[in-house]
Amino acid sequence: MTECPITANPRCHPAPGAGWARAARLFAPLGLALALNPVQAGDHGQVASPAPNWTPSSLRQALAALPEGDAAHGRELNRSLFCASCHGNEGLAPTMNWPHLAGQKVAYTAKMMLDYQSGLRQEGERGRLMHDVGVELSPQEIADLAAFYASLPAPREATTPRPEPQLSATDLPAAVLVRKGDPSRLITPCASCHGAAGEGGRLEAPELAGQNPRYFVRTLLDYQHGTRANDGKKTMRAFTRGLTQAELEALAVYYADLPLRPAEPGFFLP
Ligand code: HEC
Ligand code: HEC
Repeated sequence: MTECPITANPRCHPAPGAGWARAARLFAPLGLALALNPVQAGDHGQVASPAPNWTPSSLRQALAALPEGDAAHGRELNRSLFCASCHGNEGLAPTMNWPHLAGQKVAYTAKMMLDYQSGLRQEGERGRLMHDVGVELSPQEIADLAAFYASLPAPREATTPRPEPQLSATDLPAAVLVRKGDPSRLITPCASCHGAAGEGGRLEAPELAGQNPRYFVRTLLDYQHGTRANDGKKTMRAFTRGLTQAELEALAVYYADLPLRPAEPGFFLP
């Protein structure tokens, strides 16, 4: 087993064969293939997690142990480490298959980088790519990059292609799932954790407003199939289990459009 170079990440023990090469040498050909490949969900094959999942307190401790981030240095790293080639100079991914990072909360970005390093997040080849890209980042670099993305405005992307969900008579519209959930399927309202405006919530609950819809659908399918298994208490795996493909797509469109809509008066959570 390869030793992890990140000693400050106590959970870090990358899968055998994990490379030491920096992003530039690794990602170019694979990244291009992944950008062009329209597949929506990761390989729904094996799901073995090499690292144990977080508990709320172990996650809180790991995040608290990270140094203070420097957003200006994060901007430089975003370019010099080639993150920008896939996630954009301003955190806006140029292809439908790569996530936007602009406006994302520090805690969530930092957790994702720790999860990619430890192999806890590993849905298919894209997850492996991010493992290889992220495994050498120091805690300071993670903090700086996370601070940089958090300093950017949330994406307001009207031009990214949206799916066209065909909701059946029994499917629920996205706004209902977001605000009320569906008790019959044990789905808690998305807004109760991700915020009324999709701005993100407590601790690691990420911002969803303006996220790339293709990525959004793909990552929800990955939770649904269990190939994305880094949600500590299995919450996202549980909430997506009962959702239909059309509902997932409708939710992706809802959140992609959210920053483009005027604030809605009278939005009460149940
Ligand atoms: C070759 C393209 C590529 C490069 C270079 C790249 N990424 Fe990624 N990144 C991706 C893809 C694809 C995903 C989605 C992976 C998955 O599904 O697990 C991703 C996911 C992420 C996520 C999780 C986003 C979310 O919403 O969950 C973060 C954070 C991230 N990358 C940060 C970085 C940083 C920081 C760098 C530079 C050190 C970087 N990436 C370089 C393609 C890339
Ligand atoms: C109990 C709180 C909770 C509820 C309710 C909830 N989420 Fe989440 N969600 C989270 C947390 C925490 C994460 C981060 C998990 C991880 O570390 O992978 C997350 C992650 C996500 C992601 C991945 C974001 C990214 O950039 O990769 C999406 C998309 C998402 N949730 C959508 C939804 C939708 C849609 C609903 C409603 C059907 C919902 N969530 C309900 C807490 C919640």
